[in-house]
Amino acid sequence: MRQSNLSANCGMLCDTIEARKERPEMNAHTHATLIEQDRQQLHPMYHPSRTENAVMVEKGDGVWLYTTDGRKILDSMASLWNVNIGYGNHELAQVAYEQMLDIAYSSGFAGMTNPPSAALADKLAGFFRPNMNFTNFTSGGSESSDTSFKTARFYWYQLGKVKKTKIISRLTGYHGMTLAATSATGMSKFHTMFGGVMPGFIHVRNPNPYRYEGELRDGETVAGAAARELEEAILREGPDTVAAFISEPIQGAGGVMIADEGYYDLVAAICKKYEVLFIADEVICGFGRTGNWFGCDAYGINPDIMQFAKGVTSGYMPLGGIQVTDEIRDVINGAPDDQSWMHGYTYSGHAAACAVGIANIDIIKRDGLLENSRVMGQRLLEGLGALVDEFPNIDNARGLGLMAGIDVVQSKESRAGDPDTAEKISAAALEMGLRARPIGPAIAFAPPLCITADEVDIIINTMGDAITRASG
Ligand SMILES: Cc1ncc(COP(=O)(O)O)c(C=O)c1O
Repeated sequence: MRQSNLSANCGMLCDTIEARKERPEMNAHTHATLIEQDRQQLHPMYHPSRTENAVMVEKGDGVWLYTTDGRKILDSMASLWNVNIGYGNHELAQVAYEQMLDIAYSSGFAGMTNPPSAALADKLAGFFRPNMNFTNFTSGGSESSDTSFKTARFYWYQLGKVKKTKIISRLTGYHGMTLAATSATGMSKFHTMFGGVMPGFIHVRNPNPYRYEGELRDGETVAGAAARELEEAILREGPDTVAAFISEPIQGAGGVMIADEGYYDLVAAICKKYEVLFIADEVICGFGRTGNWFGCDAYGINPDIMQFAKGVTSGYMPLGGIQVTDEIRDVINGAPDDQSWMHGYTYSGHAAACAVGIANIDIIKRDGLLENSRVMGQRLLEGLGALVDEFPNIDNARGLGLMAGIDVVQSKESRAGDPDTAEKISAAALEMGLRARPIGPAIAFAPPLCITADEVDIIINTMGDAITRASG
């Protein structure tokens, strides 16, 4: 039976924060003045109303965040699904420190390189798939999306198929916020005020088995219908114009959408049939989040391009990248000099970030975090299932490893989402010391992979209290 967690977790004061004492410029500021200073910052996903009571985090430890107004919060979102090994890891700080003393950064543009980026590329060679041995580094997921799209276009250009430039992605998919990544992102709220979707980006429905809004023909599964829609889109656009299809193995920012069974096999066959490259966006799913090294592992997906970010450094340094198949590598390597792969960023192959990436992967291995993700993920899923049993407005508990979600609904019969109550539940949870993320009618959970059983239970108990308070 779920225990009420209110008294245990509410209003805890954080420990003395040593680092703050040693930094005079921080000491000068109270929480209120920091919030005032922060008004000069245009934050991502900004609206002024959302910055009024911003959570000002000054320290983290494991799954816990400590704020400048003395709160201790269990972060069941690992920030943005990315602090996989947990907060406050001194080993990564030491690795970054030592690397910065040697060389923090130098150019990675062709003809220049550095030992950590070479070592990380070598470590990643064949790590995801035996036929993927060539890595390009970026600073994050959006840059990785653009890099994938441009590499797909480059590949077809080199093969003489110059019209193959279009990118197909899925509704409610999220691939980042650069202009091209935004266009691939399948949510209109990111397009409307910014000039719409760029030409050459097409969206198809995602195979959400709980709430599929497309046509289901006789005997057709959701997977079959969504795959058919992809095939229809390719045929409508013309296969000779489509470069690639991009998909997250499990959609994260779209509300933890797990595809209907069999979908990826159908999609792989369609991509092969029409010579469309498959790009797997592992930015959230990669590096242990789903209890596997990669989200593709759970579905047997063998993409042509794989992109990563977030968990590769657990957020200790900004780093991302793409990996391509040996076939694509050979095309890149075989291009004439005047058609070089003219792409890259100042911070591609950043030495300190790559050094942290290497150490982070070693920690995930050494500390058995994949196994913990599986075991704690199962406990979390069972707890969320108990909330579904207990509350009439909570449904559709789902998850893989430590990537999970529930839906807040008007009723279980209608399955109609209730985003307002999802917001209220998440706000109540935050007041009680738990950070969970409302995404439309869904509430998502993706805690650090080092979470313990007791901490999983705190998530479930606090959610139960928050649902009771917000729904009552
Ligand atoms: C699946 C996926 N792809 C790409 C991105 C973009 O990554 P970034 O915010 O590092 O640019 C995100 C960010 O959340 C993501 O979830």
